[in-house]
Amino acid sequence: MGTQMTERFSAPGATLVKLFGRPAHESSEFAVRARRVRDIGVRTAVTQAVFVTALTLVSALALALVYGLGGFYALRGELDAGSVVALALLLTRLYSPLTALASARVDVMSALVSFERVFEVLDLKPLIQEKPDAQALPDAPTSVEFDQVRFAYPSADKVSLASLEEVATLDSRGGVEVLKGISFRAEPGQMVALVGSSGAGKSTIAQLLPRLYDVDEGAVRLGGVDVRDLTADSIRDTLGMVTQDGHLFHDSIRANLLLARPEATEEEIWDSLRRARLADLIESLPDGLDTVVGERGYRLSGGERQRLTIARLLLARPRVVILDEATAHLDSTSEAAVQEALAEALDGRTAIVIAHRLSTIRAADLILVVEDGRVVEQGTHATLLAEGGRYAELHSTQFDAPAIAA
Ligand SMILES: Nc1ncnc2c1ncn2[C@@H]1O[C@H](COP(=O)(O)OP(=O)(O)OP(=O)(O)O)[C@@H](O)[C@H]1O
Ligand SMILES: [Mg+2]
Repeated sequence: MGTQMTERFSAPGATLVKLFGRPAHESSEFAVRARRVRDIGVRTAVTQAVFVTALTLVSALALALVYGLGGFYALRGELDAGSVVALALLLTRLYSPLTALASARVDVMSALVSFERVFEVLDLKPLIQEKPDAQALPDAPTSVEFDQVRFAYPSADKVSLASLEEVATLDSRGGVEVLKGISFRAEPGQMVALVGSSGAGKSTIAQLLPRLYDVDEGAVRLGGVDVRDLTADSIRDTLGMVTQDGHLFHDSIRANLLLARPEATEEEIWDSLRRARLADLIESLPDGLDTVVGERGYRLSGGERQRLTIARLLLARPRVVILDEATAHLDSTSEAAVQEALAEALDGRTAIVIAHRLSTIRAADLILVVEDGRVVEQGTHATLLAEGGRYAELHSTQFDAPAIAA
C-alpha cells in the first residue's frame, strides 16, 4: 500500500493519473490493498484477544478450583483456611505476568518477521563492491577507454529483494545483451560524441563509466586503470554526469547545488549559475537560492532543470564529464548560451557527450555512431559526412527535412 501511495501521489504520478488514469479503477485498486492491510490488522487483533481471553478463563477456573477444593478440605479440617487464602493470593500473582506473556507472544511473532526482513537486507551483497586493494586515480587529466565491452542489464531478482517487492514483478530472466563489443578511446581533454537511434545503448555506455553496473566482458578504463580496480571515491571525484532526466531533490536550490561540492562558497555558486545562464532566473525568485525545488516545491521547467544540473556540474569541476542529452530541452537561444558555458566547462576536460541534436557535437574529436549495441561508424564530423553513411543520413534528416517542409 505504501509503494502504491508513494508512486501515485508523487507529483508526476498524480499528473499521469489525472491525464490518463481511470479514477474509479485507481481507487478500487487502492481499496483492494487497503482491504488486505485491514484484514491483517483484524487478524492480529483477534489472535491477541483470543490469547488473552483464554488465559483469563484458565486463571479464573484455576482460582475457582483452588477455592472449591481448598474450601472442601478446610471444612473437613484437612487444610486450614489461611493456607487456602494464601494459595488463592499466590495464584492471582501468577496470573498477571502470564497475561503479559500472552500478548508478548504476538509482539514477538511480528518482530521475528521484521527481523527476517532486516537481516535479508543486511545480508544482501551489493552488486558493485570496491576491491580491498582498490587504488585512487592521480589528480591529472584522465583518459577514458572502452575495450571490447559487452553488457546485459542484470535481471530483476539480482538487483532487488523478493520480499520487498510484489513477487510477481520480479523475474529472473537474464536481460538481452545491450552492448555487443564497444571499443573506443578518449584521450585526456578530448570530446567523444555518441549518436544513434533511441535504444541503441548510448545511456548504457554512460552508466558503465561511473560503475553503476559492471561489464560482463571487456573493460572500462579511466586514466588507463580498470574502473573495477578504483575506489568509489576517486571515481566520484573524477566523473561528473548530467543525466537524461536531471533529477533534483526536494530541497533548496542551494542544497541541490552543494551536493556536488559541499564546501563551495556563495561566490562560486553564483559563478556556476551565471555560467549555466540561470543566474537571472534565480535572482528573480523571491527566495533566491533558498527557493525549494523538486517534487512539491517550485517546479522548474525541463530546460531550467537541466541548466541547474549543468550548474551543479560546473560547480563540481570534475576531470571527466558525461553529458547525456544535456541540451535536449533547451530552446535555440538558451541552447546557444549553454553551449558557450559547456564549451568553457569542457575546456581541458575529457568529455563523453550523448546528443540527438547533431549541431551540438560538430566540434567533437571523435564521433561514434552507435546502433544496436555496436559502433557502426566513427570519425570526425567532416569525415563521416564525406563517407555518406548512417551519420550523413542522420545529419540530412535533421538539417534538410525542415527546409523541405518549409
Ligand atoms: N535498467 C535497465 N534494465 C534493463 N534494460 C534496460 C535498462 N535501461 C535500458 N535498458 C534497455 O537497454 C537498451 C539501451 O538503452 P539506452 O538507455 O542505453 O538507450 P539510448 O541509446 O540511451 O536511447 P535514447 O537515445 O532513447 O536515450 C534499450 O533497449 C533499453 O530498453
Ligand atoms: Mg539515453
